[in-house]
Formats: sequence, C-alpha cells, structure tokens
Amino acid sequence: MKSLAGAFILCLGLALAWPPATPAADAQTLYARCAGCHGADGGKTALGVGKPLKGMSAQEVARYLQGYKAKAIGGPQKAVMEAQAALLSDQDIQALAALISQF
Ligand code: HEC
Repeated sequence: MKSLAGAFILCLGLALAWPPATPAADAQTLYARCAGCHGADGGKTALGVGKPLKGMSAQEVARYLQGYKAKAIGGPQKAVMEAQAALLSDQDIQALAALISQF
C-alpha cells in the first residue's frame, strides 16, 4: 500500500512539472543557428561586416530582426540576414532578443 501511495505521489509530481517551463532552452536552440557567424557569445563581427551582438539591448536586437524580416533595413550583407530572419516567428524573435541581451 505504501509503494502505491509513493507511485501516486510520483505521478502527481510529474504531472505538475509538465509541461516544463523552459523558454530559455528554446532560445538557445534557435541561437545555435546564429552562433556560427555571430559567435557563441555574440562577440564576433559576422562575416567581417556585422556589429557584435554582445551588448545590444533586447529592443535593439528585435528591431534588427524585424527589420531584416521585413526587408526594410540592412547593410552590404543583408541578404544573409533576410534569409535567417525569414525563418523566425515573432515569438522566436522575442526569445532570441531576450537571450542575446544577456550576452
Ligand atoms: C551566415 C552567417 C549569419 C548567420 C547564420 C546569422 N547572421 Fe546575423 N548577420 C550576419 C551578417 C553578415 C550581418 C550584417 C548584415 C548586413 O550587412 O546588414 C548580420 C547582422 C545581424 C544583426 C544586426 C547587427 C549587425 O551585426 O549588423 C543582428 C541583430 C543579427 N545579425 C542577428 C542574428 C541572429 C539572431 C541570427 C540567428 C537566427 C543570425 N543573425 C544568423 C550573418 C549571419
């Protein structure tokens, strides 16, 4: 009887812990795509033309990504980022902006 109660409590615990609240892990997964050009900590100048992402505020990052997505901004290599931003939803952009602002 004791083990049954134990199993019940375990199940209850699992049920309460689900779904796991891990938006940060999601952003990490998204950023894995960006790291090759921008560096794992956003410290690289992407392809020699970008500004380092490190030190940007979330608003700044989101403004850039929305801008690239809308093909409204950019420098000489903007086609690279337009292709990247086209794959991102508004939620992805918010999550990435929040993550990058902490670099
Ligand atoms: C293939 C290389 C590459 C990848 C992958 C890439 N970027 Fe970029 N990124 C660039 C380049 C090059 C620029 C400068 C483009 C221009 O001339 O406007 C740039 C520009 C930016 C800028 C504007 C600031 C700046 O550096 O000029 C932001 C913000 C940015 N990228 C975020 C991201 C995010 C977030 C991802 C992942 C979803 C990503 N990038 C993926 C190459 C890349």
